[in-house]
Amino acid sequence: MEANDIKAIVTGGASGLGEGTVREIVKAGGKAAIFDMNEARGQEIAAELGDAAIFCKVDVTSEEDVNAGLDAATAAFGGINSVVNCAGIAVGQKITGKDGPHPLDKYRKVLDINVVGTFNVMRLAVVRMEQNDPGEDGARGAVVNTASVAAFDGQKGQAAYSASKGAIVASNLPIARDLARSGIRINTIAPGLFMTPMAAGLGDEMVEELSQDIVFPKRFGKPSEYGRLAVFMLTHPYINGETVRLDGAIRLP
Ligand SMILES: NC(=O)c1ccc[n+]([C@@H]2O[C@H](COP(=O)([O-])OP(=O)(O)OC[C@H]3O[C@@H](n4cnc5c(N)ncnc54)[C@H](O)[C@@H]3O)[C@@H](O)[C@H]2O)c1
Repeated sequence: MEANDIKAIVTGGASGLGEGTVREIVKAGGKAAIFDMNEARGQEIAAELGDAAIFCKVDVTSEEDVNAGLDAATAAFGGINSVVNCAGIAVGQKITGKDGPHPLDKYRKVLDINVVGTFNVMRLAVVRMEQNDPGEDGARGAVVNTASVAAFDGQKGQAAYSASKGAIVASNLPIARDLARSGIRINTIAPGLFMTPMAAGLGDEMVEELSQDIVFPKRFGKPSEYGRLAVFMLTHPYINGETVRLDGAIRLP
């Protein structure tokens, strides 16, 4: 698939890494459907990008929402061949603390959005992508998921978040195997520290301090840099079943 053939679903596309991906796809000549809960921002981005983007109000954990969004994207673009899953949430909570044990509902919510939501969008999108006419080597499309370096070197308070991102990494290879017969590739990006609304809340001082741990370049990643790797993974015909750390070589202590 060439970049200008991309017809993608981008979850979490109304902010941060997802927005960066939508913009990179459109810059490369492709089309993107923003699946997000943030309607105001999603509509704004879609309006700015014109015919190359649409917004669909989707909760990634809902089968009904995802199917309605897929119908809208298929109608707008004449089909879909790519999925980039960026929707996700982070919580900070230790397994025990002054208020007692880690609340189970908080743990379940992170797993529900980050793992079940990612899987829900994938399963409903790829079943449609399997109907695409095969291209070279029988290729019918590609998926990119978002993990985190927290899947490998999680910090205090990241039990739930790290578990959710570990699940994304662990399911990458089995899903690549499941989808081989359909000609659909799947890869995962494990970002380090990126400057998104999620990170902006940290404050300048904390950003400066954390940047010192990044090997090179000593700064947070840009959403466009995430988007560039996502476009590469969607279009490179031989990268499959891979997880790539995109982190300036940071190894969190
Ligand atoms: N920013 C970082 O440094 C960083 C590092 C590692 C991994 N990540 C991961 O990258 C992904 C994107 O992070 P970000 O920093 O861009 O976050 P962000 O908060 O800027 O954007 C996340 C988007 O997901 C949407 N969203 C949340 N729950 C949703 C749901 N149920 N259905 C649909 N949309 C939903 C939000 O509305 C928001 O627009 C997340 O999975 C995050 O865990 C981020």
